[in-house]
Amino acid sequence: MLRQKWNRFLRALADRLPRPLYDLQRSVRRRFRAASMVSRDPRIVVWFRRAVLHRAPVLQHFEIHLTDHCNLNCKGCSHFSNLCSPAFVDLSGFETDMRAIAGLFSQVRHIYLLGGEPLLHPEISAFIRLAREIFPDTRIQLLTNGTLVTRMPEEFWLALAETGIGLQCDSYPIELPRAEIESLAARYGALFEWTRLRDQFRKTPIDPAGCHDPAASFASCQGFCNCPIVRNGQLYPCAYTAYSHVLRDHFGIEELATTDADSIALDPAPNPEDVMHFLQNPVPWCGFCDMESRTFYAWERSSKDMHEWIKEPALCADGISVLINA
Ligand SMILES: C[S@@+](CC[C@H](N)C(=O)[O-])C[C@H]1O[C@@H](n2cnc3c(N)ncnc32)[C@H](O)[C@@H]1O
Repeated sequence: MLRQKWNRFLRALADRLPRPLYDLQRSVRRRFRAASMVSRDPRIVVWFRRAVLHRAPVLQHFEIHLTDHCNLNCKGCSHFSNLCSPAFVDLSGFETDMRAIAGLFSQVRHIYLLGGEPLLHPEISAFIRLAREIFPDTRIQLLTNGTLVTRMPEEFWLALAETGIGLQCDSYPIELPRAEIESLAARYGALFEWTRLRDQFRKTPIDPAGCHDPAASFASCQGFCNCPIVRNGQLYPCAYTAYSHVLRDHFGIEELATTDADSIALDPAPNPEDVMHFLQNPVPWCGFCDMESRTFYAWERSSKDMHEWIKEPALCADGISVLINA
């Protein structure tokens, strides 16, 4: 509890830093694994838990969708949500996935319930209550773009207030009734926070040539895009791998197919140490990520041009260009 409050204080402090200082502290934290979404414990603690206490590992964070589609259409969405047709996750599949993860680890420190836009899901209150039942002690946040918050029914607010699941609202440069949102959260006693201003998005170019060194891509991705995500009974290292089929199908880029080695099946239950090893090492799909060409751009709405995600031009180091059947 004290640790959570301390972490919240540090995050709030970091969020108030000017952008260059904020970016600097992010890169220092990445360097020392303090921003890892898989494990932030010192190696000695990890060893002691495993070898002496014989306890299952602790997972720092994972995320799970309630919907795949979204109503905001952000340019270069890293979950490809603006390319998805309406897709609502069903409650029983969600329960199976959540229980599978809960059974693997001695603790999960943080979970994001998101999407797509999770507030589009008509059964959202049931998801909130189920998440808390399965993870009674985990810090859980529902991440929203904020556009639907003032239209949510009372049962939604009661579910948040009664479970202690926090609503985190992204601060995109769009018009939102901020005062009304804050007063609704306060009226129901729900935990609520705004994110730092999301006026910049990043492009981590996907190169269909797949010729990048997976280990090098992974090393510069740690704590950046590398963010465990569960989908349909599989655990993926990031949203790119979990939802690459959306990009592939939308633009007809067959090269971007994932393989069995890009995710880990949750049924039958894998060995938890193998899962940690999987999440802390590159997968073959990392070869599509051109981390060196990562850029930032001003947030704006998408025109759904493939180059919001795909490297321009799709060219390998050896000069062989790749034909994209768009
Ligand atoms: C895919 S969104 C889904 C949740 C919800 N619809 C929202 O907008 O908050 C999850 C998070 O990823 C962030 N995100 C998506 N694409 C991004 C990008 N290209 N660069 C930086 N952040 C991105 C969003 O800002 C949001 O915080």
